[in-house]
Amino acid sequence: MEKIRTPFYLYDMELLAESVSEMVRLSAQYGISAHYAVKANAEDRILRYIASKGLGADCVSGNEVLTALASGFPPEKIVFAGVGKTDEEIETAVGNGIFSMNCESLPEIEVIDGIAGRMGKKAGIMVRINPNIDAHTHKYITTGLEENKFGVSEHEFDALIELLGRCRWIDFKGLHFHIGSQILDVHDVFSLECRRACEIVSYFEERGLKVENIDLGGGLGIDYHDPDGHPVPDFGLWVRTIAEGMGKCGDRRISIEPGRSLVGQCGSLITRVLYVKHGVDKTFLITDAGMNDLIRPALYGAYHKVENISAEARNVKEYKKYDVVGPVCESSDVWGEGRELPETERGDLLAIRSAGAYGQVMASRYNLRTLAGTYYMDELN
Ligand SMILES: Cc1ncc(COP(=O)(O)O)c(C=O)c1O
Repeated sequence: MEKIRTPFYLYDMELLAESVSEMVRLSAQYGISAHYAVKANAEDRILRYIASKGLGADCVSGNEVLTALASGFPPEKIVFAGVGKTDEEIETAVGNGIFSMNCESLPEIEVIDGIAGRMGKKAGIMVRINPNIDAHTHKYITTGLEENKFGVSEHEFDALIELLGRCRWIDFKGLHFHIGSQILDVHDVFSLECRRACEIVSYFEERGLKVENIDLGGGLGIDYHDPDGHPVPDFGLWVRTIAEGMGKCGDRRISIEPGRSLVGQCGSLITRVLYVKHGVDKTFLITDAGMNDLIRPALYGAYHKVENISAEARNVKEYKKYDVVGPVCESSDVWGEGRELPETERGDLLAIRSAGAYGQVMASRYNLRTLAGTYYMDELN
């Protein structure tokens, strides 16, 4: 590891396998299928592994759909959400016969109907509903409140039924919900989502629209503070809550879309300390990874545990408080303030933990910095 150019993402495929196998086991036990949210991490080996275990893919762009197909996800297990699908992306989805486009507005459904008609091929759709639920999470990752760009809200339900009645090239498959991400209040929030979903399904069925599939989205949170204590999140609680909640809603096909919960803990961003800088009251560790490599702390104020791998190897016993910061010319480029770490030297390797989800996929070349590489633990042994 010492010789690899830093920064780089390091993935633990054994941990990914544990999470995926737990998901697969629960899916089979409760009859709930899982579509992996590709947006969380689209590294080739990760996608191929998840596809090989039989999960489906939840995509949010035409390129994600094409990448999912190339990684081995069959079209009948691919769904495609997103508020702004372009005509080209819709053609990709219809042309490849994916299971469903999860539509987010009435105008989008009309456009899909027109494109599918021109292509002479029916388009499978589910309609994303905005259930007006507070997911008790960060305002940038809550998506189920009423005044929101996502999904169709209650005041449009009757117009939706009328529209679906006249779209000849639409194959309506069901309803989609996704209320937010990094949800830790699992039982209460997902029970509420299920209750709202059941009420909404009844509303549509009473008006003659058959809802065969219900997709409840993703959102299960992970433990950013103690990744080793909880390497695999409580998929059991999530799936049982949904199975129980949807049990009251008749016999339907239920699916979920885990992203962060499957891949979050299996990735770390490995970075080197460039400088130890002594201020008046503070000591700064300046790393060679920055917000361009992992934007979550700068974007959401998100917490990631930082570990000094080199000091652990040196068996350093003395701890100090550090502000750990990146090199980018933005004051929000900070990994953590006042972090208690073993006494650190220039050249030490730090691991920024729980970086497997919404990390590498959001990396940019801001400041024209070189993108971090990708390594897998089993390649390093
Ligand atoms: C529609 C949809 N499904 C699933 C997910 C995955 O969510 P998570 O990573 O929280 O499981 C997202 C994430 O934003 C999403 O927008």
